[in-house]
Amino acid sequence: MTPTANQIRRQYIDFFVKNYKHKEIPSASLIPENDPTVLFTTAGMHPLVPYLLGEPHPSGKRLVNAQKCVRTDDIDEVGDATHLTFFEMLGNWSLGDYFKEGAIKMSFELLTLPWEKGGFGLPARRLFVSCFEGDKDAPKDTESAEIWEKLGIPTDRIFFFPKKKNWWGPAGQTGPCGPDTEMFYDVLNDPDFAKHKPGFEGLNTKCDPSCDCGRYVEVWNDVFMQYNKNAEPSAGSGQAGFSPLKQQNVDTGLGFERLVGILSGKSSPFETELFEPVMEKIAKLSGTPDAGSPDYVRSSRIIADHLRAATFILGDPFGVSPSNIDQGYVVRRLIRRAIRHGKLVGINGFFTSEIARIFIPIYGEVYPELVKNSERIVSELSMEEERFSHTIERGLHELKKTVQGKAPESADAIDGKKAFYIFETYGFPLEMIVEELAKDGFKIPREQLIQIKKDFDESYKKHQELSRAGAEKKFSGGLADDSEKTTMHHTATHLLHQALRDVLGPHVAQKGSNVTKERLRFDFSHPSKMTPEQIKKVEEIVNEQIKRNLPVHYEMLTVEEAKAKGAIGLFEEKYAALGNQVKVYFIGPSAGSGQAVYSCEICGGPHIGNTGDLKHFKILKEEASSAGVRRIKAVVGGIK
Ligand code: SER
Repeated sequence: MTPTANQIRRQYIDFFVKNYKHKEIPSASLIPENDPTVLFTTAGMHPLVPYLLGEPHPSGKRLVNAQKCVRTDDIDEVGDATHLTFFEMLGNWSLGDYFKEGAIKMSFELLTLPWEKGGFGLPARRLFVSCFEGDKDAPKDTESAEIWEKLGIPTDRIFFFPKKKNWWGPAGQTGPCGPDTEMFYDVLNDPDFAKHKPGFEGLNTKCDPSCDCGRYVEVWNDVFMQYNKNAEPSAGSGQAGFSPLKQQNVDTGLGFERLVGILSGKSSPFETELFEPVMEKIAKLSGTPDAGSPDYVRSSRIIADHLRAATFILGDPFGVSPSNIDQGYVVRRLIRRAIRHGKLVGINGFFTSEIARIFIPIYGEVYPELVKNSERIVSELSMEEERFSHTIERGLHELKKTVQGKAPESADAIDGKKAFYIFETYGFPLEMIVEELAKDGFKIPREQLIQIKKDFDESYKKHQELSRAGAEKKFSGGLADDSEKTTMHHTATHLLHQALRDVLGPHVAQKGSNVTKERLRFDFSHPSKMTPEQIKKVEEIVNEQIKRNLPVHYEMLTVEEAKAKGAIGLFEEKYAALGNQVKVYFIGPSAGSGQAVYSCEICGGPHIGNTGDLKHFKILKEEASSAGVRRIKAVVGGIK
């Protein structure tokens, strides 16, 4: 029996919940709430950074989850058998609880136990592992190697690799990190796998898991977070320093799509049930494609991958719309590139929303936000497709004009500035420009391409800064830092949120928050522009709460308790139905005073201790953010 994808995900989570007392936590949003350094959640550990650094997690010290992730670094590679823009990462977490021995034993047990006994049933003889070989920052990880050996992995299947392979660094420049041990599955000896693997004969029978011929599929990565990478160089080294973390953590990451591939004997995720109905639809829409042609295979995978990622981004609780900046730009690139490849495989007419409609039920049970936001997903896709259809032909014409008369081998067929112009005017993402030129025989040399990308990015950055009216800092989502001023703006955001509900009504819900030293920015659902009177009233209410010198404190409550206390926040999407504990911030007189609290909101913090410290609150701007969503920018402090 081949288990379904949903059963496989469940088996992973249940293994840790039932056997090792982990608490299941929901996937965080794809748009990071408290990390301004990246646009998307790129790994399971990302939303958990505060807890890896020592803050107590409301659900305890042992956690397990499936996390939605997006990585765009390898977007050019999508189309092969392995690369994906969106993926799910399964992870188990120890926050200062078990360490190397516990983690490795659990990993081994889950991989090798038969399915009926709660495991994945992979034969141990086909597992290979790697450990960190050691360098100036940290010693060789012989401890992990010995644990593997005790479990029965022979020494000739245990490899030591340098930092580049066996170390997990922080998502930003600083943060928790440490050596890791990776588990690989040898596909070479699997007759079933071989059947499905075109080019299988090409695998290298003599290589080790550091080889990328495809013989060893990396399944799982156990990271042992023992260090914090500091921005300050350690004495004399000129390098960033590594200091031991307060607590030793385990962060594991198992690529879900890959696992589904292995367990269903498929050599690429695109052949699994997660993609199959979509691949069939693409084939149907494109008439009678030459399904075996490498161009068709690549394009159809790009379409499926990009539209799956777009479906998840558009359907995220923090739903982003296609635009020319930040996450909006990424989702625009994904959709437009998918449309272009649709044309290349002969799809006529609009099709992106049809594809999304197939993905939504595949994932709806596990990620109900897709079902909830399905109308939004479909309409955003259709609108973007409509917009793009107006410029695509003109853009292609402009591109042809640009390279007219140039020899195909000419290194300067196009430069970054011109490419940016085409992007800005016709909305062609850079990778699409490069692909179009390649179709016309222009093979841009690698070094030239790097330069083009650099110049393009530079123009893009400038454009982005202009789009943000100069004064804003360049980042998205959450808190920019934990400085006092940023923290003040964060607390003011809670007061603002409640005041908006007081003035406009209980339909007001947070749609986004971005807080810096300079200002707070708060997006919320409300159908129309606020009147000057409403704005004034909101300001007055917030300032009243500031004058009351209200203490701010938090309590750990179960979702039910938080709801009973009337807490607001991102309940539905993030915490619902898990019986989880959550951190609830209260702003208001202390319990003994008999007076009601003013604000009660689910939030990770940090906040200031007393509203009086905010001094004065002022709204700078109220504007539209997207359909049905308004945006307020405001400041606090000693302003008049
Ligand atoms: N952070 C590690 C990874 O992304 C393990 O979860 O691979």
